[in-house]
Formats: sequence, structure tokens, C-alpha cells
Amino acid sequence: MKKRIFSFVSLVLAFIMSFGIFSFFGKSSNKVSFANTENNVPLDKKIRFGEDGKLRILHVTDTHLVHDSNRDKTYYVVREACDREKPDLAVITGDIVMNYEDPTMTKDLIDGLMNIFQSRGIPVAVTFGNHDSEEGAMSREDIMAYYNTYSCSISVDDGEAISGCGTYNIPIYSSSGDKVAFNVWVFDSNDYDEEKRYSGVKEDQISWYKSTSDALKEANGGEKVNSLVFQHIIVPEIYDALEKVKTPTFFTFKHLYNEKEYYRFAKDGDNRGKINEKPCPGYYNYGQFDALVEKGDVLAMFFGHDHTNAFSVKHKGIDIVNSPATRYKNNPYATQYGYRIVEVDEKDTTTYTTRVERLYDVFTMDYAKELKAQGDKYGHKLARKIAIDGWFQKVADDIYVAIAEFFTGRTVRYDD
Ligand SMILES: [Fe+2]
Repeated sequence: MKKRIFSFVSLVLAFIMSFGIFSFFGKSSNKVSFANTENNVPLDKKIRFGEDGKLRILHVTDTHLVHDSNRDKTYYVVREACDREKPDLAVITGDIVMNYEDPTMTKDLIDGLMNIFQSRGIPVAVTFGNHDSEEGAMSREDIMAYYNTYSCSISVDDGEAISGCGTYNIPIYSSSGDKVAFNVWVFDSNDYDEEKRYSGVKEDQISWYKSTSDALKEANGGEKVNSLVFQHIIVPEIYDALEKVKTPTFFTFKHLYNEKEYYRFAKDGDNRGKINEKPCPGYYNYGQFDALVEKGDVLAMFFGHDHTNAFSVKHKGIDIVNSPATRYKNNPYATQYGYRIVEVDEKDTTTYTTRVERLYDVFTMDYAKELKAQGDKYGHKLARKIAIDGWFQKVADDIYVAIAEFFTGRTVRYDD
């Protein structure tokens, strides 16, 4: 009986949430604008480990900015992430601004986002997703040139010889600044193939990676330089890292390109987080992951694209990590969105730590009260809304996970 009551409660909560009964905040006015209002802070573009020997990277992805009522709330979330975490570097992995017929509108949305980093002196590395240049009003190159009008942008247009736009590396210098101690790879995972299926990192980009990896190694006295990868679209190997099962059950997901195959975390895998939706890699595999395994210099790959996925699985020595969308959306389910922090210590660059901060972790009721006391009415209202929605989301999620684990006898959600 207890179990029945349990699942009845979860069904009721799921029903309430799916109809958005708690969407009273959605039609709020759109008066707050962060664009072009903040002072510039001078910036050192040479990224190095801090005086404490740490490098702290903020992973922002899939902001999906348009001129709607969510825009300023998404800016608020990004500002909050920057002020809480004080990152040494922010990497934004695409689907940042949804394109418009009018490039002025695209630029206006970019202004709102980039001013956040510019005013705080945070270097930003940008690459693209499948949506950024989708309608063709602005090419990837034009959009990249606009990001690079901001002095905080350390993004690179890789030129015509390399597919896409935004494949480059960021050498990370030691705290003393005298040598390259670590490296960050940024790849443009392109958008679609001719059949409108997702694309991936292509052969010419992989060749560039291999030769740059070799050059870094040579300059480092023959020793490989450890690194992390950031890009939008997850690698097809995600499905090799998961366990294939014949029948669907709780927390199994259909293969994006083969609806007869179901996948879940491998029982004995090195798993973190939770898979909330089926991973959406490119259809063709051009061999990026194998190249990284061959060179052996990558600890982890960080992806966006699948908005509610916040997980990590280890495969062939590399962590395949998905970060949630950094975006506000008026839906309790979207309180799981957030950002990821990655930390590396220069004393041991063979490892790193990471955590996800979801909107409901950041915007609690206590924080809402704090913002009210500070006179931040806008933040107070936003935080209160997320705290309420997030509470319902967490309860529904906990119940569903408990039921799933009871019936499958398996762990379906791991610590981040
Ligand atoms: Fe995407």
C-alpha cells in the first residue's frame, strides 16, 4: 500500500508540473536589461593557474537567448554563476543566441551576455552549437567576429582550412607564468549533415588536433600536456560507454539513431550524475574520440546540447561529461538547468574535480530572502520562483528515482 501511495503522489506531482500550474512568474515585465551598462575591466589574455595553484573553469552552455521574458533571467543566472564562482576562465559551448533574420538582434543578445564577463574581467572562450548559425542570417565567422569585438573574448576563428569556426586550444600557463602547464581544447562540433542529422568534429579538425598535440608535447620536453575538451555535440562513443539492454525499463534511453536499442549506465561503470534524456551525438563518427585516446593527453570531454543531462561516464580512460543548459525557462523541470565548475590543480594535472550547480541549488528560499534584504526585488522574485518550482521538481525526481531503484535493483542516479 505504501508503494501505491508513493507512486500516486509522484503521478499527481508530475501531472501538476507538466501543466505548468506554477508558472505565475512567466509573464513578468521585461524591463531589466544588462546590455551595455557595465564598466570594462582590463584583462590579461594569458590564462594561468592562480596564485593558489588552481584553475577554475566555468562551463556555460545552451543559453538559447532570444528576446523573450526568459532573456534577463538567463542573464541573471550567468551573472550569479560568475559572482559565486569567480572563474579564471569561462567556456561557452554553443547554442548561445538563437539566430534572427536581423543581425542587430543577434548582436544585442550577445552584448547582454558578453558584458557580464567583460565587466568582471573574466576571459571567455566561445564555440558554436547546431543552432547558432542555423538560419544563416549571420555566418559562424560573422558571429565569432562579433564575440571578438569584446576584449574578454579569447575565442579564435580558425580560418577556412579547418571545418566550422571555433576550433582552437588555450594554453594554460603555470602560476609563475613561465611554462605551459595545462591545455584546454575547444572544438566546433559543427551543426548538421545533409540529412539534417547532428554533425561532429571532422577529419581536418582531428588532424589539426593531432599535430597541435604533438607540438605541445615537443615544446614540453617530450612530455604530453594534460588537457580538457569543450564542445557542443557529444561524441558517438557515449553509447559504447553505456550498457545496451534489450528491453526498456526505468532510466533506459533509446539510441538516437537506432530505436530498437536501449541504454543505461553500466552497472560497474565509473558513473556520476543522472541521464535525463537520450544523448544526441552526430550520426557519422569521424574518429575524434579515438584520436584523443591515441594521443592520451585528454582527461575529460565536456559537452552541452542535451539540456537536462548532467552526468559523467569514463570510457577508455576519458570522462565523457554532459553539462546542463545554463538557462532560465519557466518550467519546474528546467530548474535542473545550471552550470558546471571544473577545477584543476597545477600540482597534479593528471586529474581534476567537477561539480554541477543546478538552478535549484543556487536559488534557494534562503537566498531569495537574502536578495530581498539586499533590496534586489528582481532577484528575490526569480529566486523564490526557482526555489518553489525546484522543490516540486526535486520531490518528484526523488520519488521517481526511488521507485526506479526499487524495481530495477540498480543505482540510476549517482553523486555529481
Ligand atoms: Fe544543440
